[in-house]
Amino acid sequence: METSRRDFLGLAVGGLGIVGVVGVLYPIVKTLAPSAASLAGAVVEVDISTIPEGQVRVISWKGKPVFVIRLPQGFQWTGKPKEEANVKHLQNQDAFAMVAVCTHLGCVPLWKPQGEGEFKYPVFHCPCHGGFYSPWGDVIAGPPPRSLYLPPQKRDGNKLVIGETGFIKELT
Ligand code: FES
Repeated sequence: METSRRDFLGLAVGGLGIVGVVGVLYPIVKTLAPSAASLAGAVVEVDISTIPEGQVRVISWKGKPVFVIRLPQGFQWTGKPKEEANVKHLQNQDAFAMVAVCTHLGCVPLWKPQGEGEFKYPVFHCPCHGGFYSPWGDVIAGPPPRSLYLPPQKRDGNKLVIGETGFIKELT
């Protein structure tokens, strides 16, 4: 009898402790986390004409690094990606945005317009574990399990509007 009463008191005190910890942590976590409204409204406009052809600019969108790449006129690329998930959405675009986070373990790949290693044409190279991506973010080689993510985006004249539905409707 005495034991079960002690058990009950122990559980009651423990329960109060958990409630107290949650009560203290919840407002802190809520303050640190970005609100859904701020994420939903994240729109970034980039003037494509300020990016030299064949170059990449890194911007921030929703707290993530994002590549904005401008392909040269008549760009030809001779590589062979493992899959063509992104290029089918992007083949008519001369400028577009991709989340600059390697889909393997999250490093930021590097743009190598002259090629790198065995690849003698423009690639993104993730030096962390030897991942390679095409200019459209499709995997060519290495451990990345999928293409770079594409944020929703649309074109408005010289502006690429990242975060609004257009030729990419949602995070893909
Ligand atoms: S994090 Fe990019 S290849 Fe591992």
